[in-house]
Amino acid sequence: MKPRLRKVVFPVAGLGTRFLPASKVVAKEMLPVLDKPLIQYAVDEAVDAGADTLIFVTNRYKHAIADYFDTAFELEQRLERAGKHDLLALVRNVVPKHVRCVFVTQAEALGLGHAVLCARPVIGDEPFGVILPDDLIWNRGHGALRQMAEFAAKDDVGAIAVEEVPREQTQKYGIVDAEKADARAALVRHVVEKPKPDVAPSNLAIVGRYVLPGRILELLETTKPGAGGEIQLTDAIAALLGTGKVYAYRFEGTRFDCGSKLGLVKATLHFALQDPALAEATRAFVAAAAS
Ligand code: UTP
Repeated sequence: MKPRLRKVVFPVAGLGTRFLPASKVVAKEMLPVLDKPLIQYAVDEAVDAGADTLIFVTNRYKHAIADYFDTAFELEQRLERAGKHDLLALVRNVVPKHVRCVFVTQAEALGLGHAVLCARPVIGDEPFGVILPDDLIWNRGHGALRQMAEFAAKDDVGAIAVEEVPREQTQKYGIVDAEKADARAALVRHVVEKPKPDVAPSNLAIVGRYVLPGRILELLETTKPGAGGEIQLTDAIAALLGTGKVYAYRFEGTRFDCGSKLGLVKATLHFALQDPALAEATRAFVAAAAS
């Protein structure tokens, strides 16, 4: 049975400075890995987790994301007339029929925590998921968010995705101090945003998947700007630890940090190598380029 995680938030209102100048006009979530934009992989993962309401937190420059999920009348008519039914299905089925998309605006990029707070009127007070689309997670079985939703639903707890990172990189992530509960989960004692390696409590880094209780939104209302002067989701999670259990969850799958150039290159090569139509030529190209 699918876990009941009805609502998933996609905070996509960041500036995407690491992809300038492209991100002047192309939202980084619209960058493709092969033929699908990053946001499509994220939406597929949310639907796999049981979501029927997708909440996109965007800004006024990111029309392309709303356009992508809208009906493309002219294109659909042309494909229909040309009898290109496979392509028509691809264009029409970017989200299944039972799923609705809601767009809210973050007027100013005040941080990830603030972006999630902007979705409060749509979320209400029920548990919800958060996916950062630039963390692309590949796996053969169910997606990372579904794995976490199943785990969290058992005991009505929060779950945040974690991964070990080299110690010198702790300053790029939220870092957890957690007590191992089983092979995948550890009870979080403490979280800290972007600590320097010498003071980081561990090298377990939070990556872009969360299953959170609705009451975190109340905490976000009063969360003050933290690291980088931004309102941090990690700080609200730290406050949540006082009132409820949150687990750090080591999901099954491979994460690509597509918010960075190298991550996007790695993801593209990985997906090409998984695709029977591209694998052989890609392997030959990489071997030749490396020699
Ligand atoms: P990042 O830290 O990757 O920032 O945000 P960014 O602006 O997207 O990219 P760079 O670092 O300038 O290249 C993490 C996630 O939080 C969202 C981003 O869209 C991304 O999904 N975010 C961040 C918001 O929605 N609003 C914000 O104010 C900040």
